[in-house]
Amino acid sequence: MHNVRTVNEDVIWLGASDRRIALFENAYPVPKGMSYNSYLIKDEKTCLMDGVDTAVLTKFMANLEFALGGRDLDYMVVQHMEPDHCAAIPALLSKYSNLKIVASQKALDMIKQFFDIDLGDKAMAIKEADTLNLGKHELKFFAAPMVHWPEVMVTYDAKDGLLFSADAFGEFGSLDGGIFADEVDWERDWLDEARRYYVNIVGKYGAQTLALLNKAKALDIKMILPLHGHIWRENLDLIIGKYQSWATYTPEENSVAIFYGSIYGNTENAAEILATKLSEKGVRNVRVYDVSKTDVSELVSKAFQYKALVFASATYNGEIFDGMHTLITDLKNHNLSKRTVALIDNGSWAAIAGKKMREMVESMKEMTVLEPVVSLKSAVSEANVAELEELADSLVDLLNQ
Ligand code: FEO
Repeated sequence: MHNVRTVNEDVIWLGASDRRIALFENAYPVPKGMSYNSYLIKDEKTCLMDGVDTAVLTKFMANLEFALGGRDLDYMVVQHMEPDHCAAIPALLSKYSNLKIVASQKALDMIKQFFDIDLGDKAMAIKEADTLNLGKHELKFFAAPMVHWPEVMVTYDAKDGLLFSADAFGEFGSLDGGIFADEVDWERDWLDEARRYYVNIVGKYGAQTLALLNKAKALDIKMILPLHGHIWRENLDLIIGKYQSWATYTPEENSVAIFYGSIYGNTENAAEILATKLSEKGVRNVRVYDVSKTDVSELVSKAFQYKALVFASATYNGEIFDGMHTLITDLKNHNLSKRTVALIDNGSWAAIAGKKMREMVESMKEMTVLEPVVSLKSAVSEANVAELEELADSLVDLLNQ
C-alpha cells in the first residue's frame, strides 16, 4: 500500500526509510536508520527527481505508481548517480518505456558503468544552466561537483522556488512521518546527525560546497528538498548558516572537545582533570570522548563543531594509540583546518605519541599546536597537574580571544 506525502500542488514526496541498516555506505553507524527521498513533479510532463536505495525499492515502485495515478513517467532526473539513489533505474526503464533519463554526461557514463545499460536515445545529457520544460515548471540545472561525487547536479524550479539539492542538506536517520524540518524539533533532535552526515560524507570538499552555496545565493529559494532527511520550507537560514560554517571549517562552539586514547585509564585521568579545570574556569559545554569507544564519525563531527581540540594519547607500539591515530588521520582526510590543538601524551618508557601527533597536526592546514605539550610518565604526577592547570589557562585565553 502506498505511503506518499504532498509537498505542494504539483510535487509529491515518494521517500522511504530503512531502519534495519547498521552502516550507511557500509561505513557510518546509523542507529536511527536512513531515509531516502525521491520527488515526483506532475505537470504537463511527469518528472521524477532521483530514486532510492535498493533497501526500499519495492515500496518506492508502489508509491510511484500510486502517485502517477495512471499517467506515464516522462523523465527521471538523476542528480546523483550513487547507488543509494539509483537502484530503481533498471526497473523504471523496464516499466516506463517512454522514460528519458536526464543527467550530466558523467552521471550517464556512470549509469553505463553500474548497470551496463546502453540508454541510447533515452539519455538526455544536461550541463550547467541547461533547462527542462515540464509545462508550468521549468527546471534549471546547476553543477555541484564533489557534493558529493563529481557528476552531481542540483536543480532549481523557479515557479515555486524549489531547490532539489541532491546530497546537500541531508541527514542521517529515518523519517518518522514528519518530512519537513518544521514538523520536528530539528535543532534538538537532528542537528547533530545533519552535521555528522555532512562532515563525513562531504566535509572534505568545503570549497566545492561553498561554491554551491554561492550559486544558491543568486536564487530565490523557498524550499530545499534533499535526498536524505527533512525538507526545509521555513527558517532556511538555519540550515544554510550551518552549511556556511561547515564548508568554511568555522567552529560553531566556542569551547573545548577533549579526545583521549587511554589503555589503563591514566591518560583518561589527565583528560578528565583538564576538563574539570576548564569547567571550573567557566568554560561551558566541555566534552570528553574516549576514542576507543565512540565511533570515529562522531568524533570527526565534534572536531568540526568545536573551536579548541585536545588530543591525549598513550604511546602504543612506538606510535600514537590506534583510535587516536585513526581520528587524526580522518580529520586530515576531511580537510579540517582552522583549529587550535592541545596535546597530552603518555609513555612508561618512551613517550612518542606527542611528537607524532604534533607532526600530523602540523601537516594539516591552518592548525596551531598550543604549548606546552603535557607528557605523562605512566600516571599523572603533581608536576603534570600544574602543567594541566597552565594548559587550561591557555585554552581559556584562546576562547576569550
Ligand atoms: Fe546519498 Fe552521495 O549519496
